[in-house]
Amino acid sequence: MGWGGPGGGPMGGFGGARASAAAGLPFAGIPSELAAKADDILATEPDHPDPAVAFHHAMADADRAPFTLRSFLGAHRAALVGALVLVVVETLAQQAGPLLTQRGIDDGIVPGDVAVLVAVGVAYLVSVLVSMGASAVRVRFTGRLGERLTYELRLRVFAHLQRLSLDFYTDEKAGRIMTRMTSDIDALTQLFQDGLVNLAVQFGTLVIITVVLVSMSPTLALLTIAVVVPVLGVMTVWFRRASDRGFVTVRDRIADVLADLSESLSGIRVITAHNRRRHNVVAHDNVLGAHLDANRTTARISAIYGPGTEAVGIVGQALILLIGGSMVQAGTLSIGELTAFVLYLTAFFAPIQQLVQLYTTYQQGQAAVTKLRDLLGTTPSVAEAPDAEPLPPIEGAVDLEHVTFGYGDHEAVLRDVSLHIDAGETFALVGPTGAGKSTIAKLVTRFYDPDAGAVRIDGHDLRHVTVTSLRSQLGVVPQEPFLFHGTIRDNLAFAAPDATDDDLLAACAAVGLDELVGRLPDGLDAPVHERGASLSSGERQLLALARALLARPRVLVLDEATSNLDLRSEATIERALDAVRQGRTAIVIAHRLATAQRADRIAVVEEGGISEIGTHAELVAAGGTYADLYATWTRHTTGGTD
Ligand SMILES: Nc1ncnc2c1ncn2[C@@H]1O[C@H](COP(=O)(O)OP(=O)(O)OP(=O)(O)O)[C@@H](O)[C@H]1O
Ligand SMILES: [Mg+2]
Repeated sequence: MGWGGPGGGPMGGFGGARASAAAGLPFAGIPSELAAKADDILATEPDHPDPAVAFHHAMADADRAPFTLRSFLGAHRAALVGALVLVVVETLAQQAGPLLTQRGIDDGIVPGDVAVLVAVGVAYLVSVLVSMGASAVRVRFTGRLGERLTYELRLRVFAHLQRLSLDFYTDEKAGRIMTRMTSDIDALTQLFQDGLVNLAVQFGTLVIITVVLVSMSPTLALLTIAVVVPVLGVMTVWFRRASDRGFVTVRDRIADVLADLSESLSGIRVITAHNRRRHNVVAHDNVLGAHLDANRTTARISAIYGPGTEAVGIVGQALILLIGGSMVQAGTLSIGELTAFVLYLTAFFAPIQQLVQLYTTYQQGQAAVTKLRDLLGTTPSVAEAPDAEPLPPIEGAVDLEHVTFGYGDHEAVLRDVSLHIDAGETFALVGPTGAGKSTIAKLVTRFYDPDAGAVRIDGHDLRHVTVTSLRSQLGVVPQEPFLFHGTIRDNLAFAAPDATDDDLLAACAAVGLDELVGRLPDGLDAPVHERGASLSSGERQLLALARALLARPRVLVLDEATSNLDLRSEATIERALDAVRQGRTAIVIAHRLATAQRADRIAVVEEGGISEIGTHAELVAAGGTYADLYATWTRHTTGGTD
């Protein structure tokens, strides 16, 4: 469709548009012959308006209450009551059958009354139609309700995941989190869609049948109940206990399977390089085996309970035929009543069988609820304070005041660190691997809160300002930049959705990415694969840098932003860095001292604190760690090994 070019209008694909263009007419919207169809589509297309989705960094009170089936369904009480009414109609109509059969035999067939027989037949037909109608409406109704509930739950879990702090993602495997969203929520969907209501159907059937049986022949009914119910009761208690345990295990094992899968997928390059593909299959086989075992256990439990109840049912029927038959002979029971009795008893055991199936669904749903409750109950460790104020536009002075910090229960990485960075200053952090440079960056951007002390920007403690107002004024290029599946444009405009093409191209030019964008046939629309796998690491870094620039942050944190670049691009990027740090505070973490050297001041991070601080010249003159690093570095670079 080359005729429209990139600016060819949103309807470039419509045949009618082409026709009008050929006739020399300007394209005037959707062609008339398609307008009606388009309206139809729009009318049926549900929209998901933006304002309906509320997201807050702070957890609402409703989010804090433990997640239970009851609390979650509570909001839909009216819909559930509606479903229940339909269920009652359906069940009553269904269970009219045997009663009508009894009438037909006793009042129609035995006395030879055709009129009664016809009336009974018509009534039977009506009852079947009513039950069918109610059932159809109910299935439709609960199907929609189920989908709605699932949708709400998914959104709620996703929003919560977006809220949680980084330590959660360090501790929890990505695959396990996926399980919560896939398999666990699927289990609940099943429960919402037909499980709960079917449970009500079957339970209602049991109650109705018991009432009918007792009213028809109390002796026979009580006899049946006395024999059948205790056995069933014992079996049910056992089944419940055994399956409760079983289903939670199944959920855990599914999570393991997905966790292993997701890690294998993201680590596929390392796995290939280290020749571990076969080993990985074996490892996955073990995880799958554990899952299989867990499922076998629950299957075994159901296999005992299901046929067990069936056997009890058959024994019950035999008993009724025996006792009921002698009652018919003695004249205390009509033949129609006995027939109805036997029919009802069959109908009595059908729901029990169904209940076993449903109980499985219910158990899986409950196990999923337990898992989701844990997830939704996790509070973000870096939470927005309830009384957080928006951070006013900042100058960009950064302070660390007696900051002590360690990851989780680990030993402190930083101990009593104090540091002042002036607004507009370019400040470099250097030091050995694992010293805590990235950790300082994470504290300044409030990915973590210090265990003791405070981090301030322009004097505002980061814990007392709203997350959005803080992050909107900060820019970060992390040590391992992440790119999303999409286009270069999507990835660039990520933090600045309103940026124009000119802005995007200017940012690319500033970091030296313009050459790549110019070379790609699709330019800004060139695809970027998941995690940026189709780009080189240097290109990824440049993209991440351009992305951070576009957001025009007041404070820019660059963690090894140039570590993967060749020397020529490094020269470009040094120039770019000089340009972008103008008028803003820049915290630059660099192993390459060429980068550090250009900073206004440099701090050496080692052994849990800052050992030296000053300008390049001061530190070289002081003859400490930095001077050593610098000497080694110049020796190496002039020796041509870097
Ligand atoms: N999420 C984490 N959980 C536990 N320990 C961590 C975590 N992240 C980092 N650490 C530990 O904290 C210490 C400091 O890590 P940091 O990433 O700040 O080092 P760095 O100075 O940036 O090193 P490099 O130069 O290699 O990037 C390291 O010993 C590391 O093992
Ligand atoms: Mg680091």
